Amino acid sequence: MFDFEGVLERGSRDEFLLHQINPEKMPQHIAIIMDGNGRWAARRGRPRVVGHRAGVQAVRQSVETAARLKLKALTLYAFSVENWKRPHLEVVTLMSLLKEFLRSELAEIKRNNIRFTTSGRIEELDRSIQKEIAFAKQQTESNTGMVLNIALNYGGRNEIVDAFRQLCSDYQRTGRNPAEISENEISRYLYTAELPDPDLLIRTSGEMRISNFLLWQIAYSEIYVVDTLWPDFNRISLFEAIIEFQKRERRYGGLAPVEQSAARMAK
Ligand code: IPE
Ligand code: IPE
Ligand code: MG
Repeated sequence: MFDFEGVLERGSRDEFLLHQINPEKMPQHIAIIMDGNGRWAARRGRPRVVGHRAGVQAVRQSVETAARLKLKALTLYAFSVENWKRPHLEVVTLMSLLKEFLRSELAEIKRNNIRFTTSGRIEELDRSIQKEIAFAKQQTESNTGMVLNIALNYGGRNEIVDAFRQLCSDYQRTGRNPAEISENEISRYLYTAELPDPDLLIRTSGEMRISNFLLWQIAYSEIYVVDTLWPDFNRISLFEAIIEFQKRERRYGGLAPVEQSAARMAK
């Protein structure tokens, strides 16, 4: 089921944790708010960009691990629409790290049968990045394995605005009745139209907020906040998050199965 043959050391913590993961209860889609790069660097007395550079390694490992776990989708929050407020040098560094990542990882992404996609207003980014992104998408479009979705120049409210604009204009053009709008249809107008909603939302660095991420899609996601700073997040961290996820009881507003049957018997 999983694909860690020859990857994990015998008797290692990774191997121990992997055995605790139930292949029957895997999340299909994991979304991660990769936070804490700046603090990671500050703790070492280094500039923030050093933290971002270190964060790329964590991205690489998470993508590889998620693919080996055979997830359907992994969404990584890489740059929010609010992140433009940061100093110019930091923004430029983040963008060039992304470009570097796409260049250096594309072969590996292809080898792992991963399909690359993005969520966010890509058309507002630098031409050179747009080109790199378009190339990676085109090169991987027929891959059938995990979808790697990078949220870039992403804002959850922007996403809803963009969906409204498109939906309203389609309705106007075709004369359809707005009473026909359903939840499913709205989902299909979002950047994530082709993806299932995230089952698990991870945020690193202990911050208890959503920061404008996937507002619509996380309605019933399990939220897992971990103190680990993003550059320190590794395979073990991802295994631990999934083990915790599998202990949760997802009720979607209903009752747990035991309570449900007790209630039925009492009727
Ligand atoms: C997350 O780390 C990366 C991005 C937002 C791009 P931060 O840069 O937010 O790090 P902290 O939160 O300041 O530690
Ligand atoms: C969220 O982190 C955005 C990304 C991880 C890309 P931020 O560091 O920007 O969020 P706030 O400012 O703490 O809410
Ligand atoms: Mg932050």
